[in-house]
Amino acid sequence: MTIWYGGDYNPEQWGPEVWTEDMALMRRAGVNLMSVGIFSWASVEPRPGEFDFGWFDRVMDNFADNGIGASLATMTASPPPWLSHRHPEVLPRQEDGTILWPGSRQHYCPSSPVYRDYAARLVEQVAARYSGHPALTIWHIGNEFGCHVRQCFCDVSAEDFRRWLRARYGTIDELNRAWATSFWSQRYSDWAEIHPPRTAPTLLNPGQRLDFARFSDDALLECYRAEREIVRRFSDKPVTTNFIGLVHKPIDSFKWALEQDVVSLDSYPDPVSGRAHKEAALGYDLVRSARGGQPWLLMEQAPSAVNWREHNVPKPPGTMRLWSWQAVAQGADAVMFFQWRQSLGGAERFHSAMVPHGGTQTRVYEEIRALGQELTLVEGGGRIRADVAVLHDWDNWHAVEGDAHPARIDLFETLMAHYEPLFDANVTCDVVHPSADLSGYKLVVVPNLYLLHDGSALTRYVHNGGHLLVSYFSGIVDAHDRVHPGGYPAPLREVLGLRVDEFWPLSEPTMLSFNGTRDTASLWSEWLTLEGADVVATFDDGRPAVTRHAHGAGLAWYVATRPSPSLMRTLLDNACAEAGVQPVLTGLPEGVQAIRRGRHLFLLNHSGERVTVAVPPGGTPLIGTAKLDPRDVAVWSYPEGV
Ligand code: GAL
Repeated sequence: MTIWYGGDYNPEQWGPEVWTEDMALMRRAGVNLMSVGIFSWASVEPRPGEFDFGWFDRVMDNFADNGIGASLATMTASPPPWLSHRHPEVLPRQEDGTILWPGSRQHYCPSSPVYRDYAARLVEQVAARYSGHPALTIWHIGNEFGCHVRQCFCDVSAEDFRRWLRARYGTIDELNRAWATSFWSQRYSDWAEIHPPRTAPTLLNPGQRLDFARFSDDALLECYRAEREIVRRFSDKPVTTNFIGLVHKPIDSFKWALEQDVVSLDSYPDPVSGRAHKEAALGYDLVRSARGGQPWLLMEQAPSAVNWREHNVPKPPGTMRLWSWQAVAQGADAVMFFQWRQSLGGAERFHSAMVPHGGTQTRVYEEIRALGQELTLVEGGGRIRADVAVLHDWDNWHAVEGDAHPARIDLFETLMAHYEPLFDANVTCDVVHPSADLSGYKLVVVPNLYLLHDGSALTRYVHNGGHLLVSYFSGIVDAHDRVHPGGYPAPLREVLGLRVDEFWPLSEPTMLSFNGTRDTASLWSEWLTLEGADVVATFDDGRPAVTRHAHGAGLAWYVATRPSPSLMRTLLDNACAEAGVQPVLTGLPEGVQAIRRGRHLFLLNHSGERVTVAVPPGGTPLIGTAKLDPRDVAVWSYPEGV
């Protein structure tokens, strides 16, 4: 299949003369898919119940006439001013009661029946009108659900939260048990007494906070589902909604992925960060894994600079091309941007676009046009095989970053601390939920899986021959954020062959010894009692820092601290070698990412150096050569089975 290429198109910001030019420029740029209608609500329904789709018909017809598909939005992402003017109760509230007013976007309470009713009425109109349109290619529900309003604390949400809790726990006694409300006199005797975790004198109940995070995610998912069901009544085209992925805690991508036909992701790596492409890579591996390896869509990225950081540096020449190919290499079948034509007014007028303020005689449009041609050289659809799985779980993410822990943990940083050495070693990873089928992986890496209800699947995985690497503060609490009795980490003690007696956070980096070398560790340490595990690395006081335990036919490593990046790399290299995990290519120059996807081998030079890669024989070059300039890309095709 052809790779989709295009971006967000906001024609309501321009007159029809510009639309005609847009079509010509899109054709020149090789565009074949446009996301449209995302912020069109106020333009198609200028007054309640008064619909004006005439202009939008022309936009859709233009697409059809020019061979461009529409990723058609349900138009509900930004309610028109009349809605909150008539029904102020749809406006969301923060923890402290602050109202989030209109004048921006996404100013709706996800639980609001009023918002949902108006949204449903609009989606019916859109779906009925365009389901048979020849340009319609895919449905784009909402936009970045929860991007700005992650949780709403208003009274409507409070009532919805109570309903959700009733469905989850059945009885108030069950809820009291789950939330451990005998602590601090929090015992509830009636559902009506329960509120969202609003601003309070001090620390809030962890179970209540965790459930509110789950509920808030579900409330948004309900909005998504309601729109999807309407669309499906009219159309059998695939349905998606764009995630922000691993930088976005409110939306559980694993849960939402199952509700879509194809997953799409918006990705905005920061060009000034040296590891931006690695952070992006982690997110790409996750969205690909979220639907079992199915190709995904890069729904948005910036052609050059964004406008929402403190300091917005453009993508240097070649970077947009390199990062676009990186997404394709890691499983994307679409390369899309925000947005087509750079706005003259509005909050995003300094965000880059495919057609900049300066028009087509610009570096950015030229790079966009060139990429559009180049993407046609490669077929999408290919699958990726990974021998390593990194575990991630949204419930754990909420819980492990909760209040009042021995030390503050940033789970994204922990994930990166484990993922980056694997990326640097050119080991292909999937990023999966702990409940996924792990049997096909040679190594499973478990960063800070604090919330783990049940360790039996991981124990079985090792028993059957799998290799496991678990890092500190894992297996501590159950699904309600209550500590497992029986010594930390109770669900993993058997497989790890140890017990954690005490957490001992480090206020300064400390030294440890590993295989005759000395290195550093920081943030965290633990006092371990060994119950069968062997010591691999020790702190200077002689206590174990890293252990290894043979269990059944497999092996389980435990890392009781945050090792320096170099030591983490050594540990993971060792774990990979013992598990029989191979890099995609050996002897690659530093900074080069290699990925095999289907019959293609992608080489991506993220370094600032010119490099030569020893490309395996038997392939045909589709793009580039074995000599790659800084930020260069090469793609080779191999016959089946080579
Ligand atoms: C995304 C959003 C787009 C646009 C973009 C700018 O989060 O979906 O509408 O605002 O950011 O980077």
